[in-house]
Amino acid sequence: LASPQRPPVVWLAFAECTGCAESLLRTTYPWIDTLVLDIISLDYHETIMAPSGEAAEKSLHDTVAKYPGKFICVVDGAIPTAEDGKYGMLGGRTFLEIAKEVCPKALATICIGTCASYGGLPAAAPNPTGAKSVKDAIGINTVNIPGCPPNPINFIGTVVNYLLFGKLPAVDDKGRPLFAYGQTIHDQCPRRGHFEAGEFVTSFESPEAKMGYCLYQLGCKGPETYNNCPLVKFNMGTSWPVQAGHPCIGCSEPNFWDKMSPFYKS
Ligand code: SF4
Ligand code: SF4
Ligand code: F3S
Repeated sequence: LASPQRPPVVWLAFAECTGCAESLLRTTYPWIDTLVLDIISLDYHETIMAPSGEAAEKSLHDTVAKYPGKFICVVDGAIPTAEDGKYGMLGGRTFLEIAKEVCPKALATICIGTCASYGGLPAAAPNPTGAKSVKDAIGINTVNIPGCPPNPINFIGTVVNYLLFGKLPAVDDKGRPLFAYGQTIHDQCPRRGHFEAGEFVTSFESPEAKMGYCLYQLGCKGPETYNNCPLVKFNMGTSWPVQAGHPCIGCSEPNFWDKMSPFYKS
């Protein structure tokens, strides 16, 4: 996929925990160095770029000015909107101002993580900063790669779809690419047979837990959650929450912190 015409990418980090960036750094198909050196041109990413301060801000402004309508904007984190956005600032400007300036000039805005996609943790009740998704904060359509954090393969797949076919992938009514979010966790779960057989784990210390029975009675949100975790897994395909014995908490669904809680039943 290495291309002499690597698409310029700017990565805006707003109200977030950096978990999404940490997730991307652990991509293995391809490795992160191949991604940022051979496949895309990552012109601005505060966490991993060499410049800092005014030099870093110049990189952002230069890319936006040089490639209007041609760069990809990746947003990580929600956007505080209360009090004119003053709960999130960078270089003297609010996240809200930065998003309003940069995102509409991009070829596309890809929201990585549930915070940017739907508000996520910063927007959880009582949401004192008025945090919103990129779409709700500035009124643009976005491609959403939710998850807390998302699997980097879903982000890479979206970018590669663009590189190979010249367009972004088909999405569902929540802006999620169907290739990754087209089915529920429950419909792909290896414990589904136990669910159908009525074989449930009722406590984490139980023999049923050791036998890998279904986690529904502990609060698993797999039946309501669209994502491909059972297929692609995390950490080089090593494992994913349910495989590790933990219920799915619905981390790729809008407002999951409020709607999906309590995460545990007993
Ligand atoms: Fe952190 Fe989760 Fe938000 Fe990503 S989606 S920035 S991992 S809280
Ligand atoms: Fe469905 Fe969760 Fe049970 Fe898997 S563990 S079958 S996702 S309820
Ligand atoms: Fe998130 Fe559930 Fe996958 S909690 S990581 S969508 S198994």
